[in-house]
Amino acid sequence: MNELRGRITKDGIRIYEDADFAGMRAAGQVAAEILDAVAPLVKPGATTAELDAFITAEVTRRGVISATIGYKGYQHASCISVNHVVCHGIPGGKVLADGDILNIDVTVIVDGWYGDTSRMFAAGTLPRKAERLIEVTHEALMRGIAAVKPGNTFGDIGFAIQAYVEANRMSVVRDFCGHGLGRVFHAPPNVLHYGRAGSGPVLEEGMFFTIEPMVNLGRPETKVLADDWTAVTRDKSLSAQYEHSIGVTATGCEIFTLSPADKFFRTWE
Ligand code: MF3
Ligand code: CO
Ligand code: CO
Repeated sequence: MNELRGRITKDGIRIYEDADFAGMRAAGQVAAEILDAVAPLVKPGATTAELDAFITAEVTRRGVISATIGYKGYQHASCISVNHVVCHGIPGGKVLADGDILNIDVTVIVDGWYGDTSRMFAAGTLPRKAERLIEVTHEALMRGIAAVKPGNTFGDIGFAIQAYVEANRMSVVRDFCGHGLGRVFHAPPNVLHYGRAGSGPVLEEGMFFTIEPMVNLGRPETKVLADDWTAVTRDKSLSAQYEHSIGVTATGCEIFTLSPADKFFRTWE
């Protein structure tokens, strides 16, 4: 251990210690397992309130805490964002139809550590364009993660994501970003999913943050509905998102919220 750990950088980013990775790993794994568990319930006819009730029960059963219930007045254990909803969809009476795509985002607190992750799910059979959107969004997240190592910058992450998404003629949402986390839900820095290579703070071992790109089939602009939470695409085009919580290591990063049950799971060895 050295004096570089346990400090705050000039950009306000906390540098965690080696022992803190275990706390994040435990929290990240619980969040990922809850997404694994809800997967079989996602099908045409289910409501988003039913999915959220199941997630609430899973949180309770595991003896952990939901980070979103009570957060700025939010009252649910998940955000469920269907089709043109970009993020922060509120679970409710919406009945899933064949061909719907949805993001389920869960954040839990385990022994004080925050695990924040989201994935896309499909109700029934998807049109090819929805399937492509989901594949491109997941690959964009993984390319952002591949840019994470000490000495690279946050701009390198955003650049990798934006370049891949735009090469596939889709767009990156600018209005929401990833964030530092750890013993808090949202901390510096704002992790942008677009940008210039080499810009932004330099990545250092011990930084914990999320990467959570939102990708639209149409234009990037969003608006927030009258409920003050639900963000939608202005042009009503389909939107997708994936989110992992990660920690910067000496050689790259550890993904705290990876699950072998995720359909995109792969190893890099
Ligand atoms: N989990 C979301 C994120 O990725 C935040 C949800 S806040 C809520 O940062 F209140 F809408 F749940
Ligand atoms: Co997040
Ligand atoms: Co989240």
